[in-house]
Amino acid sequence: MTFIDTNNGSLRFESQAQVVNPPRIETWFWIRESASVTPTAAAFHKAFAQLGHLAELAAARSKQRQGSYSDEWITPEAVYRELEAFFGPWDLDPCVPSDCGQWPWLLGPKTVYALPDSDGLASDPWPGRTIFLNPPYSQVELWMARAMLELARGGRRFLVALLPASVDRGWFEVLGRVATSIAASRGRIRFIDPAQGRTAPRAGSLLLCFHGPDLGLAIDPNETKEGALS
Ligand SMILES: C[S@@+](CC[C@H](N)C(=O)[O-])C[C@H]1O[C@@H](n2cnc3c(N)ncnc32)[C@H](O)[C@@H]1O
Repeated sequence: MTFIDTNNGSLRFESQAQVVNPPRIETWFWIRESASVTPTAAAFHKAFAQLGHLAELAAARSKQRQGSYSDEWITPEAVYRELEAFFGPWDLDPCVPSDCGQWPWLLGPKTVYALPDSDGLASDPWPGRTIFLNPPYSQVELWMARAMLELARGGRRFLVALLPASVDRGWFEVLGRVATSIAASRGRIRFIDPAQGRTAPRAGSLLLCFHGPDLGLAIDPNETKEGALS
């Protein structure tokens, strides 16, 4: 995938594959289709610091809270495949369930991390360039801080985060400054709850897309999809 410079100076997503097969991204509508520039490494460092602070506050709050909460919510296959076809293929998903084989579509990325064998937060650096991140929602600030650090480091990364549509949260304000594109779900995604063996519509969802500072705004329409990020 790449950005194509249109005649009027705006930028939009395009890939060779998409020219041949226009993408189906029915689940989502764009709120911000594309920013005009990729953020600087300094902007990602700033977001990292701000999210780190928010993560500390969130951790302190969650210590005070009682009750059980599960972070095991699986992206349904149709939604996952749609994102994979539009943005992927993925090099990395840094947080998947340990019994991932039950949901084979989650094994699409070249690398996946699952506790207890591999810890996506502790793994440093994250391998690959195209990253899908649907983090534990009890720790959005922490995981997105980690993601910001990876983006700041360079390596021509492209990251898509699937997050709850909690636009009143501090993390949304921080991420909104550095996301190149933002989309919202049409209706609620029925994530799979393995513990209860059911699907459940949670809140609405957001997709936040981030281009690393050294990715640039490639404008060669002859690039192949694989070459678009090279
Ligand atoms: C919201 S679920 C998303 C799972 C999958 N990425 C998807 O989209 O269906 C978050 C996942 O992160 C896993 N997880 C939590 N902490 C982790 C860690 N430190 N390293 C790797 N995975 C972790 C949880 O087990 C859970 O499966």
